[in-house]
Formats: sequence, C-alpha cells, structure tokens
Amino acid sequence: MNPADIASWISDAQKAFAAASDLDALKVARLAHTGDKAPVSLASRALGSLSSEEKASAGKLIGDAKAEIAKALAQATEKLEIERDAKVLLEEVVDITLPVQRTHRGGLHPISIIKNEVSDFFIEQGFSVEEGPELESGWLNFDALNIPADHPARTMQDTFFIEPIESGVVLRTQTSPVQIRSMLTQEPPIYMICPGRTFRADELDATHSPVFHQVEGLVVDKGITMAHLKGTLDNFAQHMFGADVVTRLRPSFFPFTEPSAEVDIFFNGRWIEWGGCGMVNPKVLATCGIDTDVYTGFAFGMGLERTLMVRHGITDMHDIVEGDLRFTRQFGVGL
Ligand code: FA5
Ligand code: MG
Repeated sequence: MNPADIASWISDAQKAFAAASDLDALKVARLAHTGDKAPVSLASRALGSLSSEEKASAGKLIGDAKAEIAKALAQATEKLEIERDAKVLLEEVVDITLPVQRTHRGGLHPISIIKNEVSDFFIEQGFSVEEGPELESGWLNFDALNIPADHPARTMQDTFFIEPIESGVVLRTQTSPVQIRSMLTQEPPIYMICPGRTFRADELDATHSPVFHQVEGLVVDKGITMAHLKGTLDNFAQHMFGADVVTRLRPSFFPFTEPSAEVDIFFNGRWIEWGGCGMVNPKVLATCGIDTDVYTGFAFGMGLERTLMVRHGITDMHDIVEGDLRFTRQFGVGL
C-alpha cells in the first residue's frame, strides 16, 4: 500500500469521472472507483490486518484518497446534471406558436334538433313521448288502423316488406302504429306524441326521401272534440313557425280518422300542406278496447323534414339527407 499506488487510484478515478459523457456513464465509473471492489475500498478493508502504527499513517492516506475521489465525483455529477437539465429544456420545449389541428366536437343533425324541439313543446303540456319499433308488424301499421289488406290506402303508402313476406313485418310507413301500441297498453286519458323514423319506397327527390321522419300526436279522453284538435295544431304551428302563422283544416281521408283533414299553414305568403289529422275513427278505438261511448280522440301526423324545409326555406330534400356539414352548420350546430 504505497503512496504512489494510492495517488494512481485517485488520478484513475478523476480521469474516469471526467471522461463520463453522461450520468449513466458516471454511475458505471462511480461503482468502479468507489464501489466494494474499488482499490480504495479493498485497501480500506485491509487496514484491519496492519499494526496500529501502520494503520494510522495508511488510514490517513486512504481517508484523504477517498475524500479526493468523492470531490471529483461530486464535481463530475454537478457538471453532468447541469448538462442534462439544459438538454431536457431544449428537447422538451413546446412551441406554443405552432398552428394546431382543430378537432370537430360533433353536433346534432337539424332533424334531431327539431325532434327535440317538438318533444319539449308537448312535454310542457303534459304529453308523453312514446317510441315504437321501425320494423313493425303489418297488423299494427295497417290493419289495426282500419287499413285492411285490400284497401287502396295501402298502395298510397308504398311499403318496404321484410322477407319472408309471410312474416307480416314491414318497415313502418308512418308513426301511426305507435298510436295503436299506446292505446293497447294504456288506459285513457292518453296524451302522447311519437316522433320517429318512417320508410316508404319513394324515390329521393326534392321533396321526398325513402327514409324520413314524422311526429304523431294522439289524445284520447272524455269529451275531446275537433276544436281541441284545431287548438292544439294552432299552438303547435305557432310554436314551430311563429306567432303569425295561420292554420287551416282541409277535408281529406285517412282510414283511421273520421272526419279527416289535411293541416295547411299559411307561411311566407302561401298555403303549405303540413300533415294529416282527424278524429280517431271509433273503429280504431274499439279495436284497441276503448269504450267509444265514453271516449273520443284526435290524432295528427306531420313530416319533420317538411316542417324543417318550410321553416328554413330549404328547397331540396337532398340537403337534409346528405349530411354535408356546410348545411348542418347553418343551424347553429357547434362543430
Ligand atoms: C300519414 O302518414 C298519416 N299517418 C298522418 C296522420 C296521422 C293522419 C294521424 C291522421 C292522423 P301522409 O302519408 O300524408 O299521412 O304523411 C304525412 C306527412 O309525412 C306528409 O304530409 C309529409 O310531410 C310526410 N311524408 C310522407 N311521405 C314522405 C316522404 N317520402 N318523404 C318525406 N316526407 C314524407
Ligand atoms: Mg298527405
């Protein structure tokens, strides 16, 4: 354990620490020069076997060497930590001036908006909002509504049938079967609406779509008259088109209402057909087990696309069904 050896352990350690290019390399050098198997550590442990005289002088040399090595390590650590911090700051810098790609939040289609608007209007008046299946039994879509198989009214609504034909299942051509569902499952008084998707084998053109939406309304209670129907439609029309709008009932025919009428609205200087309505045919009430001596009712059904088109001056149905965002954005939809 001569002083020259000890001096070389110190300078070896100093060189190794100075040569370390980063903190990981420094760790390797530290273990080699201060770890259990480092020369100073081995020498330190060997002190025990020396005489007390030798121990004192050698102990001092080794203690000083350890201090020197520790100092070199501390200096190298400090230098490499500063370098690392500077590098991290540079590498992880965020350029807040870079333009970002804005993602769309998504929004409701105008048909959904108007559906919610209609629902809110009727909920406020105590109506419930019902739903029915889009795949409907032919019996509910036609027969229960007094449209028997051979009735010409069936051909008025060009129907999508579901195979096998014997299944009797159709894509509902109207929301009216939901009237039947409500009357079969509820006792009067019944105040309900049903907005929903309907299907007809119509060509897509400026005013028709094979998939469209209707909102059905049904009231069954004691003493319901056509005046209640007219008043309800007036309020509904004013809510949708503004306080100035005027409605008119024009005689028409539906097998499930008697009498029946078309509801027209006077809007932007002309009369426009809005939907169908009438007093629920007693035959339909009876089919649903409702006592026709006690109860009467009214019903109506409007096209939601039609409502949207009239109110917003949309002249082409394609705009509603094609889902072009430039169209949708005009309805204040946040995108
Ligand atoms: C009916 O569907 C009756 N169920 C309405 C009714 C309900 C009458 C309750 C009486 C009592 P109609 O076939 O006329 O009636 O359709 C009603 C509305 O649906 C039409 O005025 C129109 O606005 C809309 N409509 C019908 N076919 C289409 C289509 N292919 N594309 C878009 N809208 C349509
Ligand atoms: Mg019609």
